[in-house]
Amino acid sequence: MSNIAIIGLQWGDEGKGKIVDVLSDRFDAVIRFQGGHNAGHTIKVDDKTYKLSLLPSGLVRNKFSVIGSGVVVDPIALFKEIKSVEALGLTISNENLAIADNCALILSIHRELDNLLESQKGDKKIGTTGRGIGPAYEDRCGRRSLRICDLLDDNILQERIENLLFYHNLLRKSLGAKEVRVEDIINELAPIKERLLSYAKPSFEIARILKKKKNVMFEGAQGALLDVAFGTFPYVTSSHTVSGQVALGSCLGVGDLHKTLGILKAYTTRVGFGPFPTELDNEIGKFLQVEGGEIGTVTGRDRRCGWLDVVLVRQAIQLSNVKEIVLTKLDVLDKLEEIKICVGYEVDGKEYDYLPANCALWDKIKPVYETIDGWNETTVGAKSLSDLPQKALNYIKRIEELCAIKVAIVSTGPKREETIIVSEL
Ligand code: GDP
Ligand code: IMO
Ligand code: MG
Repeated sequence: MSNIAIIGLQWGDEGKGKIVDVLSDRFDAVIRFQGGHNAGHTIKVDDKTYKLSLLPSGLVRNKFSVIGSGVVVDPIALFKEIKSVEALGLTISNENLAIADNCALILSIHRELDNLLESQKGDKKIGTTGRGIGPAYEDRCGRRSLRICDLLDDNILQERIENLLFYHNLLRKSLGAKEVRVEDIINELAPIKERLLSYAKPSFEIARILKKKKNVMFEGAQGALLDVAFGTFPYVTSSHTVSGQVALGSCLGVGDLHKTLGILKAYTTRVGFGPFPTELDNEIGKFLQVEGGEIGTVTGRDRRCGWLDVVLVRQAIQLSNVKEIVLTKLDVLDKLEEIKICVGYEVDGKEYDYLPANCALWDKIKPVYETIDGWNETTVGAKSLSDLPQKALNYIKRIEELCAIKVAIVSTGPKREETIIVSEL
């Protein structure tokens, strides 16, 4: 067995979906191990564009795919997504999709609470995707969640809902929201219950299936800087996004992950609020946003854009024990005269080679930049390193030097074939 994890090294949207799709023909199974439908993974194959949020990207190539126990599942969103990909010609059934039966559910009360809490925060908003991710993970830690397996027994379900609503109604009352009754949740679940159960499998059974596969790919969502512990807290998501989560959120163990590939966008983007030391609030930032099509897949918000920040990337590499990098969206930089890379921070005259956790310092960070020549030539669709201008190769080499890591794959466009395999995995 040779299993790899695909992990985002920035604030998400690095192009993980495209890379999972490119590589998935070499794998027998793809498993999501954290997050939920806050993710938005875009995959372009021929004239089709797949937008996946909850479904593992391996389904585009009809690979056996798993939604692991670390994922929070909104059944309504799941079935909507299945419908949208079936309209593009995919077939999703319990032959190619298994969902761990201990996944926690996202219900309408979670979506509502996410939005209610955000609207109370004024300018301290996180800028969540509004999909109920945070409240659903809170309920799991609080031992209140409904899990898919709770749908198997009506008495247990009733009990679990009562327990969940005891907490939610206390909170809702204080927020001025209407009380929710047990029947409301039962009615919400009734139309999706049997269908959801048809995909559900015990984690141990899923593990048995995966152990028989030769190569398994773990598909990360979000990125290292959105990790609930190591990211730019509190401007993070509510799951662990680093490779350590692979073991916790799938059904395999730590030793079953053999290598981690880090996905790195050639510049930086972020959706939502929070610190962003290399953000460009100028015409170059706008250029990257337009040229890179940097519009959130899930919320339609413009992504904030800035230069590549090696300080943060090095942290992300360390956190996930990343062995090789996939550099994406190189082509977006094609028309720039010069390109900057942030190689350090200065705060109150002191140098930092990491992002301080103390948020009082964030506004004072002055990025230290290195400037390199742009290449002013197209790299769009390049399929081999020899198709790249020397100055683009210099940019890649400098990233390798600064991050002390090899670039194994370069992506030069959104399509499958617009990819340079520099070295075999
Ligand atoms: P993910 O969340 O990490 O899967 O990334 P998203 O799909 O949210 O965002 C990446 C966007 O860039 C998508 O629209 C992709 O189709 C597109 N994309 C991926 N790789 C490349 C690339 O190398 N060049 C260009 N121009 N676009 C890319
Ligand atoms: P993919 O997998 C980019 C961001 C949200 C917000 C913060 C918390 O496509 O890379 P949440 O709804 O998770 O509680 O929101 O996290 N966020 C993402 N940003 N890409 C994602 O996923 C994201 N998933 C969540 O914008 O700032
Ligand atoms: Mg995305």
